[in-house]
Amino acid sequence: EVALHSSARTKGLIFGAAATYQQLSSNKAYANLFAQQCGMLVPTNELKWQELRPSPGRFNFTRADWMARFARSHGMLFRGHTLVWHKALPNWFASTVNKQNAEKYLREHISRVAGHYAGQMHSWDVVNEAIDLQVQRADQLRNTPWLRFLGPEYIDLAFRAAAEADPQALLVYNDFAIEHDTPQAEAKRTAVLRLLERLKSRGTPVQALGIQSHLFGHPDGVKFTQIRRFLRNVADLGLQIMITELDVNDQQLPRDAAVRDRAVAKIYADFLSAVLDEPAVIAVMTWGLSDRYTWLANRKPRGDGGGLRPLPFDEQLRPKPAWQSLASAIAQA
Ligand code: G3I
Repeated sequence: EVALHSSARTKGLIFGAAATYQQLSSNKAYANLFAQQCGMLVPTNELKWQELRPSPGRFNFTRADWMARFARSHGMLFRGHTLVWHKALPNWFASTVNKQNAEKYLREHISRVAGHYAGQMHSWDVVNEAIDLQVQRADQLRNTPWLRFLGPEYIDLAFRAAAEADPQALLVYNDFAIEHDTPQAEAKRTAVLRLLERLKSRGTPVQALGIQSHLFGHPDGVKFTQIRRFLRNVADLGLQIMITELDVNDQQLPRDAAVRDRAVAKIYADFLSAVLDEPAVIAVMTWGLSDRYTWLANRKPRGDGGGLRPLPFDEQLRPKPAWQSLASAIAQA
């Protein structure tokens, strides 16, 4: 089959995926498939605080450096995920970081980590998942340690520090549950758009929106119409757009694998035809390449014991109908 990244490149698009150090270093067949299909690599976990910072004073870049070399040696772009998040924080964080020293820790983290990879990064997810519709705040910012210690300006601070540390990287705000035609997703799209408008009005160097795209399969089918206007509104702010973590949770779909694979492929096709109509969309990244390595596996497994099949390749690394959807959508972009 044609390599997804090469047909993407002819359209000025980037196709890539997430992988872990473990997957790429221990499974040669997977590493080869990854190198064949992907034009960009994002480490699933190796650039999170939890993996980079074994103790307050130490940074361990060993695995992320190995992955940067893997990308470079295969002619791939490399992207970072994520400089500021409320999850995957090291065990020492809660007992060490406080209101008095949070700014020092945040600035030091960003300058050390983004500085370490300066000039090597296509893009960074600078801030991840800062909006939470459950909170009672006008700005709907999630109640994270960063918000509690530094106030809403932690986001501006993070983007400015990242721009200073690596002026060449595209600086991305990344979030999830903003894809489907549902009232909740529409409310979250509105909150994300307002955040981006505020950041831009303050001259904060946010340059792109990352749409995680962890999609849900539903027996009654899935539509993606409301996202079109949202993408245009984001592009009108002068932002680029990346699909950063695409996969399809098929938990609600029929048991039969072949039926499920076709339903998942249709969701890939419908979503991609909606988002790739927007010229500001520059990249499509899936969150893994093979069902063998999906983060969804250890989530509420299907009642019938059947593994989830959210990705373009199956557990034996064979292309699935979802792969065909990706190839066709990219070819028609
Ligand atoms: O490596 C340690 C291991 O040493 C330890 O024994 C084990 C038990 O605690 O944990 C292992 O680390 C796990 C890590 O994945 C590597 O497997 C963490 O517990 C586990 O929390 C971590 O989960 C990752 C999760 O983000 C949280 O960081 C998933 O792999 C990863 O797919 C998921 O990805 C997120 C994106 O970053 C943001 N968007 C949503 C997406 C899915 O949740």
